[in-house]
Amino acid sequence: MIVGTQWGDEGKGKIVDIFTKYADMVVRYQGGANAGHTIVVDGVKTVLHLLPSGILHEGVKCLIGNGVVLDPEVCIEEVNLLKSKGLLKNDSNLVISLNAHVVMPYHKLIDKLREESAGKGKIGTTGRGIGPCYEDKITRTGIRVADMIDPARLKERLNEVLLQKNSYIEKVLGHEPVSLDEIFKKYSEFGSVLKKYAKDAVDILNDAIEAKKNILFEGAQGTALDVDHGTYPFVTSSTTIAGGACSGSGVGPTAIKHVMGIAKAYTTRVGSGPFPTEQDNEIGERLRKNGGEFGATTGRPRRCGWLDLALLKRSKVLNGLTLLAITKLDVLTGFEKIKVCTEYDAKGDPVYIELDGWQEDLSRVRSMDELPPNAKKYIEFMEKSLGVKVALVSVGPERGSDVIVQNPLWRKFGETQH
Ligand code: GDP
Ligand code: IMO
Ligand code: MG
Repeated sequence: MIVGTQWGDEGKGKIVDIFTKYADMVVRYQGGANAGHTIVVDGVKTVLHLLPSGILHEGVKCLIGNGVVLDPEVCIEEVNLLKSKGLLKNDSNLVISLNAHVVMPYHKLIDKLREESAGKGKIGTTGRGIGPCYEDKITRTGIRVADMIDPARLKERLNEVLLQKNSYIEKVLGHEPVSLDEIFKKYSEFGSVLKKYAKDAVDILNDAIEAKKNILFEGAQGTALDVDHGTYPFVTSSTTIAGGACSGSGVGPTAIKHVMGIAKAYTTRVGSGPFPTEQDNEIGERLRKNGGEFGATTGRPRRCGWLDLALLKRSKVLNGLTLLAITKLDVLTGFEKIKVCTEYDAKGDPVYIELDGWQEDLSRVRSMDELPPNAKKYIEFMEKSLGVKVALVSVGPERGSDVIVQNPLWRKFGETQH
């Protein structure tokens, strides 16, 4: 399992792509099109919001689990994009859970209107309708993929749900109501396109477990955005920690063999909310510029700051991390001194230690021994402070720009670790 240990955008997409080479199946289990997972292959950048990042490898089965909130429009766009690249030749390689909830137009509208009226208290959501869709799931007024692909059922559900929704949209948010007929027309069409992918994902997944296949779970967002354990209320609306993968896809916790936490070598956050190590100054500016820190979903500049080990220690226990992957180490090149927060003081302010930087370009580094001594020390310091083994260090966005120290999936293939 691959999970984000910070506030998202740690480079999960890139890491999932690396390990997909050794996997039979890749599973998304929470979040929705609020995610933006970037993969760069031969200089061509692909950003996926909904489809698992494994989909760029032909022949790997990709599952969208019940815990995901599915925006059918984005899903169809991504399917078309992949087909135009000559991928997803076999439609049976994409499976969408019948139980996944569907993001409806009114979810996106409510998300937007609420943010607009929240003023200073706004969360800075991605506007993808995530919160309102999960809300309906929990209050049992949601529409699921199984409903969307059955026109009679879709109409029935819309009739049940829209009266209440429109009353809220008109009376509370002061917006004109949404049209049942328009939504029905659009969504029944989406349903007819996506029907061939809609299946009982639990069966498919557990059959693969039974057959001892290698399965990769791809987390979206990050630990500090978890609805229970994150910086509430400035969080997303799903369970982003490792535990969410079980309920979000329908596997028991005993099936999970490794949990790899992805951590940037520094910290970023998009949207509002606390960020103890934020550098709202020229240091943050430099990290943003060197790291290309602009949102993959919304294009917003990401807030940037130093590495926060207090946060990562929390992530370690919340996710039960067994391995760590450190990304974007190359972005720290050129800093004379690098600060790392090791704990918070009694007032909650970060306490820093300072490590020596390095000047060498890291983009061609392919083994730990090729790292400049101070870069190696930085990695070893993280590893030692957290007590989690570093399995991978990433030094560039491109597929292949990394050092794989330990590959938890390699055995099955009888290859060497690389
Ligand atoms: P995700 O949401 O966790 O998949 O991460 P994003 O794709 O939103 O953001 C990570 C960004 O950093 C993307 O633009 C990646 O192409 C890029 N990236 C990933 N790993 C590295 C790395 O090691 N070095 C550099 N410079 N960029 C990286
Ligand atoms: P990936 O998977 C970074 C943030 C939003 C906002 C908060 C709530 O690419 O790492 P939402 O639209 O989910 O209701 O917004 O969560 N957020 C992310 N930040 N990476 C993401 O995904 C995010 N998904 C949501 O910016 O602060
Ligand atoms: Mg992202």
